[in-house]
Parts: sequence; C-alpha cells; structure tokens
Amino acid sequence: GFIAGIAAAGRRDTAAADAPAATVDVLFGTQTGNAGFLADQAVAGARAHGLGGSATALDAVTPERLATMSHLLVVVSTYGEGEMPDNAGLFWEALQAGTAPRLDGLRYAVLGLGDKGYDDFCQAAKLLDTRLEQLGATRLHDRVDCDIDFEEPAAVWTAAVLERIAAETGASAAAGQGGPDGQSGPGGPGAAAPAPRTLSPWNKRTPYRSRLAVNRLLSAPHGAKEIRHYEFDLGDSGITYEAGDALAVVPRNDDALVGALLTHLGARGDEEADGRPLAEVLRAEREIRTPSKELIAELAERAPSSGLASVVAHGDRSDLASWLWGRDVLDLLRDAGAAAPGLAELLPLLRPLQARQYSISSSPLAHPDRIHLTVASVRHGTGQRTYGGVASTYLADRTGEDPHAGVYLQPNASFGVPADDDAPMIMIGPGTGIAPFRGFLHERAAKGAAGRNWLFFGDRNRATDFVYEDELIQLRESGVLTELDLAFSRDQAEKIYVQTRMRERSRELYGWLEDGAHLYVCGDASRMAKDVEAALLGVIAEQRGRGDDDAAEYLASLRRTKRYVRDVY
Ligand code: 2AM
Repeated sequence: GFIAGIAAAGRRDTAAADAPAATVDVLFGTQTGNAGFLADQAVAGARAHGLGGSATALDAVTPERLATMSHLLVVVSTYGEGEMPDNAGLFWEALQAGTAPRLDGLRYAVLGLGDKGYDDFCQAAKLLDTRLEQLGATRLHDRVDCDIDFEEPAAVWTAAVLERIAAETGASAAAGQGGPDGQSGPGGPGAAAPAPRTLSPWNKRTPYRSRLAVNRLLSAPHGAKEIRHYEFDLGDSGITYEAGDALAVVPRNDDALVGALLTHLGARGDEEADGRPLAEVLRAEREIRTPSKELIAELAERAPSSGLASVVAHGDRSDLASWLWGRDVLDLLRDAGAAAPGLAELLPLLRPLQARQYSISSSPLAHPDRIHLTVASVRHGTGQRTYGGVASTYLADRTGEDPHAGVYLQPNASFGVPADDDAPMIMIGPGTGIAPFRGFLHERAAKGAAGRNWLFFGDRNRATDFVYEDELIQLRESGVLTELDLAFSRDQAEKIYVQTRMRERSRELYGWLEDGAHLYVCGDASRMAKDVEAALLGVIAEQRGRGDDDAAEYLASLRRTKRYVRDVY
C-alpha cells in the first residue's frame, strides 16, 4: 500500500547530496500506523532542512544503538491501558534494564499519540521521555502529547524540533531540494510545519462518500449478537488497499438520540453552534453517547450528592466504569437534573465525534473494487431506552435506497500476509476478529500461495454465530485452509475458547512455529488477546520443556522478527 511505499522510502538512509550537518534518527512505536506515518514526515522535514534522517520501528533498535546517535525523535502511541504498542515493547524492556547504557551524548524529543478518553493518556510517551532523561540524554524540546486530532499539534512539534536541530547544528534548509517525491519541504526559519502528507485525498475531514453496496446480516436473525457483512464500493475514489488494512468509517449520531438530547436541552436544533445549526453539530461533530471525562467531572462537581459524584469521589476507576456502564450523556444529564449544565456550557464538554476503524475483511486480489467489513452491531438496553453504538449501528441502519457512508483508508503496513508465499500462517480470530483473516485467506487463494493456513475461530454458539461458515468450509475443501479449529463457548456447560483449542493442539502448533509459521491474533484486547498470549507461552513452554523464561524469549523473538503480530482493540 501507499504507506508501505513511503515507509520503505523513509527507512532508507536519506542523507542529502552534501554530507548533512547532522543525522536525525526518528524511532516510532505504533499500533495502527499513525506514528510510523508521522515518523516518515519528520524524516522528510529533516531532509528539507538539509539534515540526514531515517525512520525505524523502536523494536528494531537496541539501547546500545541509541548511544551512537546524536539527535533522536521518538513518536509513540499508547495502546490499551497505558501499554507500549506491539512494536515498541521489546525496546522498552531493554531500555528499562539496569544494563541500559548511558546516553549522555544524545539529544532527543518525544511526541506522544493518544486518546484523552482513556486513563493513562500518552503513558508510553511519558515513560520513554522520562527514561531517556534518566539515562543522561538531553531533552531538545518538551514532549507534546496529542489527543485524537493529532495532525496539527504533531506538525507543529515536528517543525519546532527540526528548526531547533537545524539551528544548533548549522544545517541550512536545502533550498529547492524539497522532500521526497519532489514535494517541496518547509521553507526557512519560522515557516509553518510541513503540510501533512495525506495517504490519499480522503481523510477524516474529507471522507470518500462510498456506496454501501452490501449490508447483510451474517449471524442468525434472532441470535444474541448482530454481526453484519458490508461491502463499500470504491468507485472512482482511487483507494487501493491491502489485506490487513483498516477502513475508517465517519459516523453520524442517531437522529432519535439527537432529538432526545435537543428535547432535554429545551432546544429546537436550528440554533447556531460553532457557526452551524445545533442539530447538525450534535449529529456530526460531537460524541453524544459516551460522556467525556470533563463532563463527568463537571457533573460530579455540580451535583455533589448524586450517585455519580459519590463514585467519582471514591476514585476507583473500575467502579466508575461499571457505574457508567449502560449510561450515556443523556442519562447523566437527566440524573443531574437542574444542576446539569445548559447548552452553552455543555457543548465544550462533549468530545469531537471520532471516525471508527474496522479491520478490512477482503483482499484486493479478490475484490479490487470493494472493501468488505465484518462488524458486530453494538446494541443494548431494555425498558425505556435502547442504546446503540455509534458507527456500528450507523452502518447497520444504512439500509435505505442507495445508502452511502463516509470512509477513508487506514493502512496497517505491519499486519499482512507473509511476503513469503510458502510460509505457514496461524490465525487466531474469535468473533469479529475473523475479519482480517478472511482477507488473508482470500489473498492466499487468489495468489495460489502454497503456504499452509490454520484458523482458530469461535464465538458463543455455532448455530447463530458461525459467520462465513460456507465460505470457510469451501476454503477448507479446496485446501487453502489447512486446519480449522472451532471454539463455541456456550454450546456446552464448560467454556471452550480458542485458547482451549490451541492447548489441545500444542504439539502441532509448536511444529508449525518451528516450520516458520507467522502467528496472528485479532480481536478483543482486554481479555482474549492476553489469555491467548498466556496460552501460547504455555504451549511453547510445554513443547520445549525449557521453562518459562525460555518460552518468553521464544515468543519475543517471534515478535522481533515480525512473526507474531496482533490487531487487537
Ligand atoms: P463468552 O462470551 O461465552 O465468554 C467472541 O466474543 C467469543 O470470545 C465468545 O465466544 C466469548 O465467549 C469469547 N471469549 C470471552 N472471553 C474470552 C477470553 N478471555 N478469551 C477467549 N475468548 C473469550
């Protein structure tokens, strides 16, 4: 994909024609590709300043390598609950060790990517920033922690840091030399940041309005879950994708919910807010399902005797999370009664409405003109109110005549089929975690790749939740799918999960790994991915018989060589 192309270009050493005044090493840690993209932009900016530079994943370098660098930029996202992204964990372990070298000669700056909606905002960036300082490195510029709308603060940070390095090292902007691809880079001192290079004309602000060619229920009509299959027509968008990429969907809030909120606020909807009609702002620009931390804090302060205030006062995160479970912005406003903020105070307390990313479930080799998604609709609630997700129900409800939705591609260069067609693949994807693996299997079938493929799939009940059953059986019969292990958790008294099946097949599983298999996990991050990892370690330890440390090192080496990759959320 495009990002793979620019990433490869960025990773080449890009010294300008004349020996550069200094070399800027840009290291990135990323779960979805954003940090890698920003790292490539920083390298392009460095070149435009007459500096040398290259971008590398954090896990691809050792702390000893850092000790040889002069100028270091770190761009790192945070994932899960304050965790390092998958391609930075090993680096972080090594940097924390007592054996990490002193970094007295190093000058550095850190850019964090995160989401203020989570606790431990930009935690990975904070940890790296602090540790580098502890090891004696000198901070060139304050760390900037970006919230979800990262483009602008990231561009400002990059420009400021590069100017600083250029000024210190006496580098001069290489006039007319420009960035890669003949683009012109930033101008002289004081110039604005390099214009963010976009992957395609389509992005968060200008999504491609794609025709939703298929919107079909995959799970059984009256099952506990609603899992749907979507096909987005790429038309003349020019979007090209790879199996393993994600598609971002730009949702709109549910009309009924917007209406209920307006009624509660005593507003008509045609009042002006941010220069637009209020109803439109609530529909397209604000998160009105999930309350922001700011709103929660404000409500707790305004209504100190409310249930919310008492749970906030206790300060326990998980208690707050369970109290909030099943309650949305409207519920909280109703609970706060007369103490609730009015419209003018409320709007700034609502977060910007975010695009939602879904793992693509097709392969461009099989479906060049369409992107398929496999999405579970989030719906719950009984009694007086029903609750939906934001984007999943928005898509599910696009059933009218000629439905369209705004989308853009979110490439994920680190999640894809092995370059080697003969390498075996082991894919673990329960629930909608199956999505990218359907794409991988289509890809291998279309290529006629000889490598063996093993899928672990499961969900609650076979009768209702066995999505793509016919297709998988056919792939099995045609030999593309070598092994298919199924784990339906609620078809019997005891729980059977994908990791139960993995343990049952330890010998074969380890055999595949020894044969060079690539191991993929997709789906729930909070429990499944952790339990699957524990099961993997157990399988490896049992089969090798050399203890837990040896198993951990075996898995770490798979991670380092990019043979253990995850797309978990
Ligand atoms: P359960 O809901 O019956 O417990 C997709 O959601 C599937 O993942 C379901 O079958 C669900 O089972 C299962 N699941 C829940 N927790 C899991 C875990 N920790 N590890 C693996 N699978 C899990």
